Amino acid sequence: MSSQQNNSSLLLGFPEYRAAAQRLATAAGIPYAEALIHHFPDGETRLQLPESLPEYVILCQTLDHPNSKLTELVLAAATARDLGARHITLVAPYLCYMRQDKAFHPGEAVSQRVIGTLLSQWIDALITVDSHLHRVSQLKDAVPVDPAINLSATTVMSAFLGEQVDNPFLLGPDEESEQWVAAIARDKGLDYCVARKQRFGDQQVRVSLPEADYRNRHIVLVDDVASTGRTLEEATLALAHFEPASISVLVTHALFVGDAQARLHRAGVNHIWSTDTIPHTSNVLHLDRLLAEALKGCTAPLNK
Ligand code: R5P
Repeated sequence: MSSQQNNSSLLLGFPEYRAAAQRLATAAGIPYAEALIHHFPDGETRLQLPESLPEYVILCQTLDHPNSKLTELVLAAATARDLGARHITLVAPYLCYMRQDKAFHPGEAVSQRVIGTLLSQWIDALITVDSHLHRVSQLKDAVPVDPAINLSATTVMSAFLGEQVDNPFLLGPDEESEQWVAAIARDKGLDYCVARKQRFGDQQVRVSLPEADYRNRHIVLVDDVASTGRTLEEATLALAHFEPASISVLVTHALFVGDAQARLHRAGVNHIWSTDTIPHTSNVLHLDRLLAEALKGCTAPLNK
């Protein structure tokens, strides 16, 4: 926790992400206030901010359920500017719409570019975590602001695993997960391998495991995001044939839509662990310190 309060900056949170945003404000030594949100019966939102704002404002909102949250975010950013904010940083630990980074079929919206451009019109800086960047190499290519910081939860994850599991064997369920699995494995000198995934639809995937000796090992499936959970479920079902000692899941972003969590347990997953980028019962890792460190460059100088 920072020992000095930075009163030239204000961190503005939103009700759905209150606990994590308050932890971040405390860790960064920045006062916390919250947007008041009222949902009208017709689905529109009334948003109200404190009536006077400092020069540096940090909006902290995670962007699962993005279609409504993006509207609220734009309302908040525009109002913050009207009320005196000159520099707005968005801390969005989960950044939405990053997976559709090209038109896979003729006529499709390239959502990553559209939403990235929209955000860049309202914010000056962005901090997120384990953003799903596949065909673009840097976050600023998707969201053109400076700085655009894409942190990784892997250091926090590897410290957690070291305390939690004896000699785990890490498995990435698809090629894209290799960056996260390899980073944790390198840090702790652990065994790891990466499976191959074919996707046939939102809920249909096939996961092919690489040859390895999984028997009696404590397997930890590591991925950036669990959405329907089908990727992790298929990997778990494939692993179960090898009779591992245990199967655990460790993800940054716990979307776990519908009955994903229950299906994973039914498939044979013993533990599900996630970070607090999206509030979920599996959250065991808090990223406030990681985010607070990155925020240092985006707030008012302390002696201002
Ligand atoms: C995609 O490549 C991601 O890393 C995840 O593996 C994917 O988004 C998970 O989706 P689902 O949980 O719906 O299978």
